[in-house]
Amino acid sequence: MPTAFCRPLKLDNPPRHLILITTLLLVPVLTLLTLSFNAHRLNRLSFSCSSRTAPQHGGDCEAIGEPRRPSWACTQNMKDAIPEFISLYNSRPIQNNFGGVLFDHAFALWYTLRMEQPKIVIESGAFKGLTTWLIREALPAARIISIDPANRARTLRGVEYMTGNNFTDFASIDWAAKGVNAQDTIVFLDDHQSAFRRIFAENKHSFTRFIVEDNYDYLKGDNMSLKWVCERSRKSLWQGTVRDNFGKNKTSQSWEQHLELGERLNSSFRTYYEFPPLASSSMTGQTRYDELHSTPAIVTDRAFFDKHLSRFDKRQFAGYTHLCFAELLAAT
Ligand SMILES: C[S@@+](CC[C@H](N)C(=O)[O-])C[C@H]1O[C@@H](n2cnc3c(N)ncnc32)[C@H](O)[C@@H]1O
Repeated sequence: MPTAFCRPLKLDNPPRHLILITTLLLVPVLTLLTLSFNAHRLNRLSFSCSSRTAPQHGGDCEAIGEPRRPSWACTQNMKDAIPEFISLYNSRPIQNNFGGVLFDHAFALWYTLRMEQPKIVIESGAFKGLTTWLIREALPAARIISIDPANRARTLRGVEYMTGNNFTDFASIDWAAKGVNAQDTIVFLDDHQSAFRRIFAENKHSFTRFIVEDNYDYLKGDNMSLKWVCERSRKSLWQGTVRDNFGKNKTSQSWEQHLELGERLNSSFRTYYEFPPLASSSMTGQTRYDELHSTPAIVTDRAFFDKHLSRFDKRQFAGYTHLCFAELLAAT
């Protein structure tokens, strides 16, 4: 802009010592305010961490609003827990769980639950019962309610099963009548239903904490995942339809409607965190997910991989679909 059009306001200069005193007073006050505001926004638990996971590439859910990650999102701590988890995983009662969670998500589920310590876990999608067992191992004293229309699960003492003839869909259950307090609960969604639908339209009981297993990348998989809804940059790939319920339901959706859902999601979440894959795909050989759109892996050094993870069948690393921990500010 030409300077001739800029007329500076004429102010009498205040005395210099007044400016200095005001600045000295304001700086610490503003710093304290900023720190306490950020602390309030961070999750309850606090962990020392020497290597926080880097912000995700392409993870639009995380790109909007900081901080989105939970305080326990610390790669080094996760890495340190891997040897303990391996002993547990080797003792799993269901060795072949293809069709259900494999190594990456088994670790992610176990780790997240240990960090969050809910008193109640609702599992929607039990399959053979491996994740139910992992939930019990992570939280020995928790109340567990496991839901599945099929009746394939190996049962565990103390778990409340709503399977087979006792099945009722998550959306239709009277959770208050069951004595379930939303604040104490994490809902683990592994039922191939759209997590967006589950968390918003079907969340009558106002649950706020969710672990989402089928969190497929944009346009991938058989249901509209949270990650899918968050996508903003890959418009050119938009196909105009969304899938749900194992891909059986298809609905038209415009890009503008998609963006609206994304806005709702982004303004509703306090935390959104895609748990990292166990190890880089250069070592695991996995080809299922795209590292460009994923949280960086926990294990990146060959020596650690060779010592702890290389003995596992490579197919164990083929089940990563961005399992995430999502926490609503308040149920909407
Ligand atoms: C991928 S498997 C779950 C895997 C399991 N969590 C594990 O890895 O141990 C998906 C399960 O969802 C179940 N399912 C289908 N519709 C469902 C619904 N409406 N509510 C809950 N589960 C459902 C299927 O019967 C199937 O067992």
